[in-house]
Amino acid sequence: MVSDDIVPTVSRRHLLQAVGATSSAGVMFAAMGALGLAPTAGAQPRNDSWVPPRKSDFNLTGRSAKKVVVVGGGPAGLASAYELQKAGYQVTVLEARHRVGGRTLTIRGGDAETDTDGRRQVARFDDGIYMNAGAGRIAQWMVTMDYLRELGVPYEVFTNANADAYIYNERSGATPGNPVRYRTAKADVFGYTSELLNYATDQGALDQKLTAADKENLRAFLRSWGSLTSDGRYQGGDNRGYSVYPSAWNEHGTPLPGPGSVAEVLASKVGQYFPFEINWEQSMLMFQPKGGMDTIYQYFLKAIGKQNVHLNSPVTGVVNTADGVRVTYTAANGKKRQLDADFAVVSAPAGLMRRWDTNWGSDTDAALGEFALGSPAGKIGLQYRSRWWEEDHRIYGGITETDMDLAHIWYPSYGYGERKGLVIGYYNTGANARAYGDLTPAARQRRAVEQGVKIHGDKYRTELDTSFSIAWHKVPYIEGAWAYPNTSSPRFKQLQQGTGQVYFAGDWMSEISAWQHGAFWSARYAVQALHQRVMTS
Ligand code: FAD
Ligand code: ALA
Repeated sequence: MVSDDIVPTVSRRHLLQAVGATSSAGVMFAAMGALGLAPTAGAQPRNDSWVPPRKSDFNLTGRSAKKVVVVGGGPAGLASAYELQKAGYQVTVLEARHRVGGRTLTIRGGDAETDTDGRRQVARFDDGIYMNAGAGRIAQWMVTMDYLRELGVPYEVFTNANADAYIYNERSGATPGNPVRYRTAKADVFGYTSELLNYATDQGALDQKLTAADKENLRAFLRSWGSLTSDGRYQGGDNRGYSVYPSAWNEHGTPLPGPGSVAEVLASKVGQYFPFEINWEQSMLMFQPKGGMDTIYQYFLKAIGKQNVHLNSPVTGVVNTADGVRVTYTAANGKKRQLDADFAVVSAPAGLMRRWDTNWGSDTDAALGEFALGSPAGKIGLQYRSRWWEEDHRIYGGITETDMDLAHIWYPSYGYGERKGLVIGYYNTGANARAYGDLTPAARQRRAVEQGVKIHGDKYRTELDTSFSIAWHKVPYIEGAWAYPNTSSPRFKQLQQGTGQVYFAGDWMSEISAWQHGAFWSARYAVQALHQRVMTS
């Protein structure tokens, strides 16, 4: 007798042998892909472990849908509510703040925020100008893209890397403080490292590792990657860019001065910024919803129904009862309220739940206790009267990296060619974010502008209209940018099971905190666990 799993294996191998005998490697590879044995161009790098609950699950089994309270109207809370409600659950969302979206906050003209220390800012941005104060970019592989498509949210490219943006290191290098374009920095770093590797290859330093054919292939790559001369030297070239680009007949362009010596290029430490572009989370091409990141949550809100989402309703207690959960909160009118339900999905930041009245047990308390409050992060949005970065610097989107305490400067990936625009003048974390967060909004602006002028010149100050800044560790009901779980901790795994009738969701409950993708997957996980329980009870 032949077992079930051997039959397909044998027949697959025979098929592949037949294909291999007559076809090119490409056809062979495609055939392997069709059989699930190799990736093909059409293969989707997606996680298929998600089986959404459906209305038919209830209809076909005669079970009735349950009542669920969702605590928190950020990405994890709204995605939980959305998926549960699609299947027929009766869902109520309680959100502490005056708006949904949590850390995907988009600031537009007229928006006001008050810090935990009582400092209030009102944004004075023009119509059509916005600042993504929290989340700003989405990688193509993220499940966030699937929700954009499902909900019909319009989106556009977010320029995460731009060869014409700058690197500005004022603390390192032979001539510190000179902004250098990414393309120039890359040409020099790639050029000199190629020259060195080529030299090491010629000197036989790699003979133990490489065959003669390998060495020839490596040399060919280095010549092209590093723009080497035929005798293996780096002497600059077109890839560094021009101070005046080629134009009409006989206008050959004016090459940039340089390159500096290999020692100077290494000392400038510009190469430290390059791994960003191949980072799996930050990979180009990236996307953003049109009009601001929180647009996604307006679409979620519409799908869930505004009447099912209560704003200004901070939860103060979530306790398991004999037959469900009791959630205590302060309603928008200031009155204390209780809501009884079959289940709760709790998606507030882990560090804040310790302040609530709960009876989740010492194991769950200890597991939640492993999460600190989120770490600090800050941003400032600088609205300018003109788009001098496009007109004068020829930078259309992307990011300038610095070793100053402002860290990153983002040029807008929307509104190209319009009259005004908004630059993110700092995006920093840790001690830098705390230092800016300690200042008044006016002082934050002054400090950011003083530094930005060093890279961009006077217009960075003279063209400034207005600004708005955020210190995430001071935003009420959030109090931090992100917290990372120890995903291999048994306590973390225990939290995934929930406690009693309570399930947990939030980016902090995922393998990829600090991304909406993680928040969405945590929501799916919680919804799936809850639904399986309902279907088997
Ligand atoms: P949150 O967004 O924090 O939502 C939790 C909600 O719970 C909040 O609305 C809060 O008000 C509410 N809440 C808290 N306490 C209570 C209570 N007692 N009662 C009721 N409600 C309560 N992600 C990306 O995908 N791309 C990015 O580029 C990106 N950049 C980021 C940059 C910054 C500066 C920050 C801060 C975040 C960034 N993120 C990014 C991460 C993304 O914003 C988060 O992963 C996502 O918002 C997490 O969703 P969440 O629902 O888990 O938590
Ligand atoms: N996910 C956050 C960002 O991309 C940290 O900025």
